Amino acid sequence: MRPAIEKILQKDELSRDDLITLLDITDPAEEAALFKRAYAIKQREVGTKVYFRGLVELSNLCIKNCFYCGIRRGNTAVTRYTMSEDEVVEAVRFAHAARYGSVVIQSGERQDEEFVCFIERLVTRIKEVSNNELGITLSLGEQSEATYRRWYVAGAHRYLLRIETSNAALYKTLHPDDHDFEARLEALRTLYRLGYQVGTGVMIGLPGQTTADLADDVAFFKKMDVAMIGMGPFIPHHDTPLAASIPDWQEHKEQQLRRALRMIAVVRIHLKDVNIASTTALQAIDETGREMGLLAGANIIMPNLTDTSYRTGYQLYDDKPCMDENATMCSACLERRITDIGETVGYGQWGDSPHFKSAKKSNNGEK
Ligand code: 5AD
Ligand code: SF4
Ligand code: FES
Repeated sequence: MRPAIEKILQKDELSRDDLITLLDITDPAEEAALFKRAYAIKQREVGTKVYFRGLVELSNLCIKNCFYCGIRRGNTAVTRYTMSEDEVVEAVRFAHAARYGSVVIQSGERQDEEFVCFIERLVTRIKEVSNNELGITLSLGEQSEATYRRWYVAGAHRYLLRIETSNAALYKTLHPDDHDFEARLEALRTLYRLGYQVGTGVMIGLPGQTTADLADDVAFFKKMDVAMIGMGPFIPHHDTPLAASIPDWQEHKEQQLRRALRMIAVVRIHLKDVNIASTTALQAIDETGREMGLLAGANIIMPNLTDTSYRTGYQLYDDKPCMDENATMCSACLERRITDIGETVGYGQWGDSPHFKSAKKSNNGEK
């Protein structure tokens, strides 16, 4: 191992250059040392209990047209669906009975009043059927302040909105002209101000993205004082403008996975006490990808609760796993994967990040 790496891994505070150096590691021994350091910080800061967030993929209707995403408005090959209120409640009952701490309601973006009301009703019902026990996270894209407020008042307390990349110029190359980086940033600030526990994240290994961009993403997370991070490798989807953006995908996917794992480790080392998800996209590249994510510093898993009949409709990227499985199967499978690596599931607990708990006391916006 290079002495420079050893030195950086002993530091308490990392500079931008340090972040870049760590993210650029290719040597397996250095990478193992990076993951080990991240794991030690995870143990110290958040422990080795993994919290389950049951994921409901509510609908694949989307008004947006992101160049990377399989359910973008422009993809006519997708059969569109929206779950009924009762179907969502059914999934939520499963999560509650299985003693998950919370559920995540995710869908393509819609801003019409009918949708806003639908979500408002759903949030209220989830609270009712779970005796207020289940935490509710929304992941429903950019909305007006009024909408975010209505959903918060109804009972949602966490919101996931990935910035996708903190580089505005890169963001522009990945989205059509009517998608606005500044508006997304403003949405994150609004969520924070309204009192949500805010989660954000990026895709790793995007076409045109440099290691310096990723280092800046890590610094961005810190500056925005977020409580939760969800990141995964960019994986080309065959029916999108970026389908051919990584030539020889089969040869490069391993590299793509390793880069994502290094990013998880670096975020753990730099941000310390936040919740970090080990995302499904890791498992799309390698069967054991999510375990690798936990071992690199992540502490959250989002088991899929979506009914099997809808799963093929929600493919944001190729090779998404568990297309033929159901909630019971994924739940058992993930628990086994977690215990296999010597960790436990934090059943029946919300699992707020220590960061959010301490930040709440002095909640004053961006640092
Ligand atoms: N590869 C990886 N992640 C993707 N997402 C969308 N498309 C892809 C892709 N091709 C991610 C985005 C979005 C989240 C719901 O899914 O980061 O915010
Ligand atoms: Fe819609 Fe989200 Fe996909 Fe963009 S990434 S097209 S907003 S579902
Ligand atoms: Fe779905 Fe393994 S995570 S079956």
